Amino acid sequence: MGLSCAMRALQQTSFDGPRDLRVAEGLGVPVPGADEVLMRVGAAGVNFRDVVMAYGGTAEGVRPPYVAGFEGAGEVVGVGERVRGVEVGEMVVGVGYGAFAEFMTMAAGAVVRVPAGWTAAEALGLVVNWPTAIAALRPLGRIAAGETVLIRAAAGGTGQAAVRAAKHWGARVIATASVGKHEVVRGLGADHVLDARSGDLAAEVLRLTGGEGVDVVLESVGGESFGVGLAVAKRVTGRVVVFGLAGGTAALTNWELVYENQIQVMGLNIGVLAQRAPELFGEVMGELFGLIAAGVAPPGKPTVYDLADGAKALMALESGTTVGKLALVP
Ligand SMILES: NC(=O)c1ccc[n+]([C@@H]2O[C@H](COP(=O)([O-])OP(=O)(O)OC[C@H]3O[C@@H](n4cnc5c(N)ncnc54)[C@H](OP(=O)(O)O)[C@@H]3O)[C@@H](O)[C@H]2O)c1
Repeated sequence: MGLSCAMRALQQTSFDGPRDLRVAEGLGVPVPGADEVLMRVGAAGVNFRDVVMAYGGTAEGVRPPYVAGFEGAGEVVGVGERVRGVEVGEMVVGVGYGAFAEFMTMAAGAVVRVPAGWTAAEALGLVVNWPTAIAALRPLGRIAAGETVLIRAAAGGTGQAAVRAAKHWGARVIATASVGKHEVVRGLGADHVLDARSGDLAAEVLRLTGGEGVDVVLESVGGESFGVGLAVAKRVTGRVVVFGLAGGTAALTNWELVYENQIQVMGLNIGVLAQRAPELFGEVMGELFGLIAAGVAPPGKPTVYDLADGAKALMALESGTTVGKLALVP
């Protein structure tokens, strides 16, 4: 293949969090399996899941030291013997293991071609943030024009995609974000932007909806404010899609569902959706290509860090202070 057989990567060296992400030199370049492609990583996406994993959550049997990151975009430089339809030299974006590196492998069947004219960094989000936002809004949330959706963490990588898509589909958007990020969320077209840390969030949302509540909640915060989404979803018909827990875990009891919050609660993990419901995932990606063609999903503008500053990037995401997508460039 004419490739060097050693590479630079960012290894998670403990489960004490992102501060223990360290640059490692001279690691072996991974070898693609029969159904995999080898990518020269142009840019790697930083996701909240990377933070959770750095503490040992969702580790799926992986132990430190491991090459961190799972979302990458770049040039295909090798393909396994059973791979058809993806060629060496193509620019693709996808998910696999070890994205915070010069090279990574991923299943060929799940890669998406980088839209013509987009850079690797601009394509990040097309396989994680956008599909998650679309799945939450459409097949799960069943959002319809004229309905109201509450979008938490609306200035984040996933939240921004959700605001753009929901507005495109004719929904009224009530968004929450930290105060310093409100201009960004308004700029995306949100109808109302509320302070994510306000103690009166549920009351404010109910006031904005004449006491009725919202049709759909995109719930990715959890922790102490998990109850907000439950309290403001319309009784009986309101749908709450739970796909993140940036603020920590939270419980929901059967008593609450029967006597307090008579609502529809759904869990979403986009990786599991892609594996267990491939037809549905195909529909989600079809929606995404439509949004790209319509200019609703434009090339991303991630905040780019050098690979060596990966710990800084993950800690910034963990702190809750970032706006939009973050990327690492090897
Ligand atoms: N299930 C899935 O398949 C899937 C896929 C993609 C993403 N997600 C989830 O979606 C959420 C957004 O992911 P992302 O990668 O796009 O991240 P992000 O939204 O860019 O960053 C997380 C945001 O959550 C908010 N937040 C609220 N409470 C927080 C706390 N205690 N600590 C840190 N942040 C807090 C912060 O925004 P404000 O302060 O402005 O509210 C923060 O900026 C995450 O929970 C992630 O795990 C899930």
